[in-house]
Amino acid sequence: MLRDKAVQIEKGDGRLNILGINCFSHDTSACLLKDGEVVAFAEEERFNREKHTKSFPDGAIEFCLKAGGIDIGDVDYVGFPFRPGLDFYRGFLHFLKYFPGSYKRFALQGLIDLNLVGKVSYFKRKYGYKNKVVFVGHHESHAASAFFASPFSKAAILSIDRGGDFLSTLLAFGEGTGLRVLRTIPNPHSLGEVYSAVTAYLGFKPNSDEGKVMGLAPYGRDTYLEDFRKLIRFEESGAFEVDLDFFPHHLVGRWFSDKFVRKFGEPREPESEIDARHEDIAAAVQKITEETALSLANDLYEMTKSKNLCIAGGVGLNSVMNARLLKETPFEEIFIQPAANDAGTALGCALYICHVLLGNERNYRMEQVCYGPEFSNREIEEALRRRNISFERLENPARRGAELLVKGKIVGWFQGKMEVGPRALGNRSILADPRFPGMKDILNHKVKHREGFRPFAPSVLEEDAEEYFGDYYPSPFMLLVLLFKKDKRSVVPAVTHVDGTGRVQTVSRKVNSLYWRLIAEFKKITGLPVILNTSFNVRGQPIVRSPEDAL
Ligand SMILES: [Fe+2]
Repeated sequence: MLRDKAVQIEKGDGRLNILGINCFSHDTSACLLKDGEVVAFAEEERFNREKHTKSFPDGAIEFCLKAGGIDIGDVDYVGFPFRPGLDFYRGFLHFLKYFPGSYKRFALQGLIDLNLVGKVSYFKRKYGYKNKVVFVGHHESHAASAFFASPFSKAAILSIDRGGDFLSTLLAFGEGTGLRVLRTIPNPHSLGEVYSAVTAYLGFKPNSDEGKVMGLAPYGRDTYLEDFRKLIRFEESGAFEVDLDFFPHHLVGRWFSDKFVRKFGEPREPESEIDARHEDIAAAVQKITEETALSLANDLYEMTKSKNLCIAGGVGLNSVMNARLLKETPFEEIFIQPAANDAGTALGCALYICHVLLGNERNYRMEQVCYGPEFSNREIEEALRRRNISFERLENPARRGAELLVKGKIVGWFQGKMEVGPRALGNRSILADPRFPGMKDILNHKVKHREGFRPFAPSVLEEDAEEYFGDYYPSPFMLLVLLFKKDKRSVVPAVTHVDGTGRVQTVSRKVNSLYWRLIAEFKKITGLPVILNTSFNVRGQPIVRSPEDAL
């Protein structure tokens, strides 16, 4: 339909502006695509300072328009990664099957749809937008965000999350500018839902703290693995079903049932002691997530015979799972879209409009994530003066940074454009020397005020990374957990997790030259091309955006 009136583009001819807006779930965001390339992309949480915010992304939209140097009247298409009414329509049979228990959920869905339509009206009214609005499916948006940002001309695509448009999972094949859906798995049968439920059960915040469960899992044993394996059943068709007697989220209000509690014990109170049972349950949910994803990926390979795999959806942030998908399936190459969670659907729906609906050729690869706001030296100096903080201008910040790290100092590293996605990759990072065994505890307790079991990630020079990891594969977005070689673990104790792994970021000189130079200077002094990198924030807060946030 759109193809008939398509705005065809030549690279850089300034004719096509597409604004993607995720305003329908948590991690709201906006992304501006100009002639098929991302020019601005940011999450609203960085502007309103509310982690995983659901608020309408006004800050992100205004930033995108400003960064793109355009007015709202220059935007040709606005994409939303959700189709109002589809959840209601697809969920109707489910509603009948579980009636009367499902009435609340169904009624709530009606309200949600109304609210969504209201948000679109709000947007049009507030910004005076008069051009085209396109609703793209939620999982199609996730899938497009992974494939069209990848370096692959053809690839299998796996989108897994809690749910959107009443689907939890979508398997697809991308080729050129096309995207073909191969299989969908409907809610409430959702791997993301199960993981979030166990996150809540373990006393953490669902939709937010899933990474904590992943970090806790390696401490656990396989005590509950067989029990958990029974909670997710595979069918002949290759789809899976969740045992809803244990996970009643589809009936609103409760993540896990009394039956779950009878089987696995009382849920952990938030902030209470973590014991072996909690660790074992974390291990079990992590393992079944990996096993389910492996089964889906193997099926996807059989259907596509592609060597390339693209991943998105919130579960795609599970970097332990991702590494197993690469290692234990026939896929040889992998691309995980760094804003794999719902923030990335703003990117995905814009790319979907550009390529699938308008048929424009691809001219973009996502090689870095720094698409957010940046600040001039003058703005930074003004912020420092306002706080009466002394400062000096450095000739060689990479050298000075490395010297401070070697002295055992913790360095707040703020430079250039802010990253999009949940990982700080060297522009809004807190850095430390990974050789000090006590550094992990100092950072967890005194700097970030977070749980002691949580590991820190290594940033490694791309050129040297293979020396440090077995089964090495480049991980520019910190979305693969790899096993350190045995002889390296004791060298970098602060970034080696209890199971000998590290959630590595490989740093390329081409992509982030200043950050690369910092690690290279650290290597000159210590012989070690590895530093500790954690996001520039404290527990419960979003990553910093501005100098004011950082101070
Ligand atoms: Fe999603």
